[in-house]
Amino acid sequence: MSVTKPFPESVLISESCLQNRIRELGTQIFTDYENQELVLLGVLRGSVLFFADLARAIFKAQHESQTREVTLRFEFVQLVSYHDSTQPSTVQLIRGGSDYLKQRHVLIVEDIVDTGRTLNFLCEHLQTLNPKTVKVCTLLDKPSQRQVSVAVDYIGFEIPDTFVVGYGLDYAQQYRNLPYIAVLESI
Ligand code: HPA
Ligand code: MG
Repeated sequence: MSVTKPFPESVLISESCLQNRIRELGTQIFTDYENQELVLLGVLRGSVLFFADLARAIFKAQHESQTREVTLRFEFVQLVSYHDSTQPSTVQLIRGGSDYLKQRHVLIVEDIVDTGRTLNFLCEHLQTLNPKTVKVCTLLDKPSQRQVSVAVDYIGFEIPDTFVVGYGLDYAQQYRNLPYIAVLESI
């Protein structure tokens, strides 16, 4: 069966632009958590490329500082949203979010915040695990789509209300490996 595959139309955020901004975020996060232990909590699957580059950017900031350090640990969660046209989508945790987060500083790493529902659910769930602090870092923010208010501490880029793919973000599980963010021609 052949499926018509929409074509990424145009590059919205280039590879070099992504990498420069991630370098800045890494420096800022390193400064904010210096000499502490931090759990980077990646939200599968969309955040994986951003997560990997951000973790390295935090290390590079440490390497440049010479004297200070942030001890990083990696954890992951996976959530699913169920859509029903009559009701707001409901979110469920299907993997991760272990007891390990208890009394630790946690930084959620997201690919995109749009309605805020997934993030709101995750933040509420994490509170039940008694972390020391919870902050949020997202690569992309689509504020025009917000339905519930959520606090986002670090934002890579604010984008317009358009469907994007690449750098972890998918359309029907495709395009995640583009090294840049692109807009789809038609979906
Ligand atoms: N692209 C991919 N996944 C998404 C988007 C998007 O623009 N918004 C929310 N999830
Ligand atoms: Mg996400």
